[in-house]
Amino acid sequence: MLYIGVDLGTSAVKLLLMDGEGNIQNIVSKEYPLYFPHPGWSEQKPEDWYEQVMAGIKELIKDADKSQVAGISFGGQMHGLVILDKEDNVIRPAILWNDGRTTEECDYLNHVIGKDKLSEYTANISFTGFTAPKVLWVKNKEPENFAKIEKIMLPKDYIAYKLSGVHCTDVSDASGMLLFDVKNRCWSKEMCEICGVKESQLAQIFESYETVGTVLPEIANELGIPENCKVVAGAGDNAAAAVGTGTVGDGMCNISLGTSGTIFISSDKFGVDKYNALHAFAHADGHYHLMGCMLSAASCNKWWMDDIIRTQDYGAEQKDITKLGENHVFFLPYLMGERSPHNNPNARGTFIGMTMDTSREDMTQAVLEGVAFALRDSLEVARSLGIDIKRTKICGGGAKSPLWKKMIANIMNLKVDVIESEEGPALGGAMLAAVANGEFASVEDAAAKIVKIVDTVEPEAELVAKYEEKYQQFKEIYPACKPIYDIITK
Ligand code: XUL
Repeated sequence: MLYIGVDLGTSAVKLLLMDGEGNIQNIVSKEYPLYFPHPGWSEQKPEDWYEQVMAGIKELIKDADKSQVAGISFGGQMHGLVILDKEDNVIRPAILWNDGRTTEECDYLNHVIGKDKLSEYTANISFTGFTAPKVLWVKNKEPENFAKIEKIMLPKDYIAYKLSGVHCTDVSDASGMLLFDVKNRCWSKEMCEICGVKESQLAQIFESYETVGTVLPEIANELGIPENCKVVAGAGDNAAAAVGTGTVGDGMCNISLGTSGTIFISSDKFGVDKYNALHAFAHADGHYHLMGCMLSAASCNKWWMDDIIRTQDYGAEQKDITKLGENHVFFLPYLMGERSPHNNPNARGTFIGMTMDTSREDMTQAVLEGVAFALRDSLEVARSLGIDIKRTKICGGGAKSPLWKKMIANIMNLKVDVIESEEGPALGGAMLAAVANGEFASVEDAAAKIVKIVDTVEPEAELVAKYEEKYQQFKEIYPACKPIYDIITK
């Protein structure tokens, strides 16, 4: 049998075809536009996602035996607000996970309702990218759109709905809405009331590896696949990536270097970060996880390469970077504000420390190091909670760079296990579809049989020491800049 994993990302959708033994047969990627209608705002059109998913699936399976396609599942960019009217039309463009427009609504939730209550109801506090503050934003700023809302959906769930006709979501993605009681894996009545949402406007909840339905006959016909092909709930992209890298069960860690940068720690038991800096979410394996999310990771390097120094040859820019741990230039990677751990939509990208001898390589190095330092900030929160992490998996576009992996290993002092395929969410999605079809006994069983570690980047004591000194310096820069960010974003 064949399984399709759909990774509905921010810059593109990646589609992966996997057989029942976990062998990857094909990978296809299709881009769509991303709109920044105001500084700090970020939107996409759900119709673009759907169009490119369909085009992508057709290309993905064009040389395959289509009669064998038995399941489709997802890893999707999290938190995005998709609203549908009663005819199932999209009411306005989706407001994405890295959108910072909801400062007022977050202040209301965190300070008027109160962080303690939010944490009690949902295990989390409000961040600008989360879904509930966006619902409140639409209610406050676009009441005519709010009045039309029949369904509130997340990005990948909109695609699952278009394919199956079922309004569904999964526990991991629902966790990022701030409308979900993570501990009990159900909608929070209190949060629905606070946000003016009826439970009937929310989707039906599934575990990530559960089947929500089969493809609609017209979809089966258009794609040439069987009508009994299952649509499986899938997961938020980070939980799906964790499945694809085998970060399941207790105490495992995965770092994703995609548009966002995340550090994901799986856990058998429900637990909340007492500082609420890390998210406490349900995992796609039936358990839980903690996660720190920075809003701009590989996207910082993409911005620096594509838009500023204007090159496509990322490898060539990195090959002359040799003086690790000795850079005088620092970069704070807050190009879209920052989520974990600072929770500050006003934070901005910042270079500091240049002198007349600073080179292009130093600046590029600072960008890569700045992302690793900022990820370490979240790791430090986990360490302060008593979580002992010695090694991590890694995935996402940034994981293709050997230099970046070396920086991560040494700045974070972690052994970095490199997986055969860095296609985390797309592979995870396909694995969830295979689990739902009974190819594997559980998500953990699928991970044990499919995921292979092919290399480990070891931290080197001397470099770890040099970077420790640099990290202590890096840590001083954000607090010093914070008041200035407030002034320049007024
Ligand atoms: C996680 C988050 C991002 C998006 C990116 O909380 O906001 O990782 O899921 O796609």
